[in-house]
Amino acid sequence: MQDLDEFTVTDAVLEQMARTTDPRLRQIMEAGVRHLHAFAREVNLTPAEWLEGIKFLTAVGHASTPIRQEFILLSDVLGVSALVNALHDKTATEPATQTSLLGPFYRDGAPELPSGAQIVREPGAKEIVQYGRVIDRDGNPIPHATVQVWQTDAHGLYDLQANDPETMDARGNFRADALGNYYFRTVRPLGYSIPMDGPVGKLVHTQARHGMRPSHIHFLIGAPGFRELVTALYFADDANIDSDTVFGVSSSLVVTINPKDPACPIPGLPGVRYDFQLAHASADGEGRVGADPASIVPAH
Ligand code: BEZ
Ligand code: FE
Repeated sequence: MQDLDEFTVTDAVLEQMARTTDPRLRQIMEAGVRHLHAFAREVNLTPAEWLEGIKFLTAVGHASTPIRQEFILLSDVLGVSALVNALHDKTATEPATQTSLLGPFYRDGAPELPSGAQIVREPGAKEIVQYGRVIDRDGNPIPHATVQVWQTDAHGLYDLQANDPETMDARGNFRADALGNYYFRTVRPLGYSIPMDGPVGKLVHTQARHGMRPSHIHFLIGAPGFRELVTALYFADDANIDSDTVFGVSSSLVVTINPKDPACPIPGLPGVRYDFQLAHASADGEGRVGADPASIVPAH
């Protein structure tokens, strides 16, 4: 019989898990246990603190519904989503547009819209046109790529946060043309606070963080033979451009609105141009850190 102490307990757990037949699962769980044990030793974790942690994770689970994913939010505010995205980008076979967060507000089945359509039901005055090309590493067009977009409405809310989450708004699925061109009408999105009314928001508040995300539009772009791109474009003049609560901004994804854009495909409207570059597909698979909340906690 083994006498376990705060060090030998780690080896005992690893020994029991050593028969795991899936080698990747074994590698992930071994490293997870080693780091978790090292963390507990480093902070000299007390029983009361561990119970607090268990209560917190339980609350995160309870806050997760078909229209709200509190665990994705937790991953985001801890920088894990941004870290996993950065690791994913490193495995691309060639240069491509950087990944950014999918976030908790992506939805499957957004409306299919024709090029140039307005994605916001009540656009109001501040319309802009987002346009550009979907290209490969050499700048060649990728014809007919799918371009899914979503953003907040004029009040800084996603449709999933609005009163009637059944209604889709401020999102749409487009298709680039034969030359890789895409364009759509929208409104300038507002920067917004991540949901602060749940356990993750409470944590962020306790850490004296502002909880804001700078103004942005999300994109999920795909084409046969290419690695799917999950990214977002961030507006340069937002006050929180350098302090995103979920670490999604990088300089290559920052854009500005040109109020008098001669190349804008809808003349007279301010334009934002951005070309998305896709890498060819590789064996490493797809890159979504997240999913439609309804696919994780199904509605019943
Ligand atoms: C978003 O951009 O939609 C988002 C990302 C992470 C946390 C909250 C919102
Ligand atoms: Fe967002």
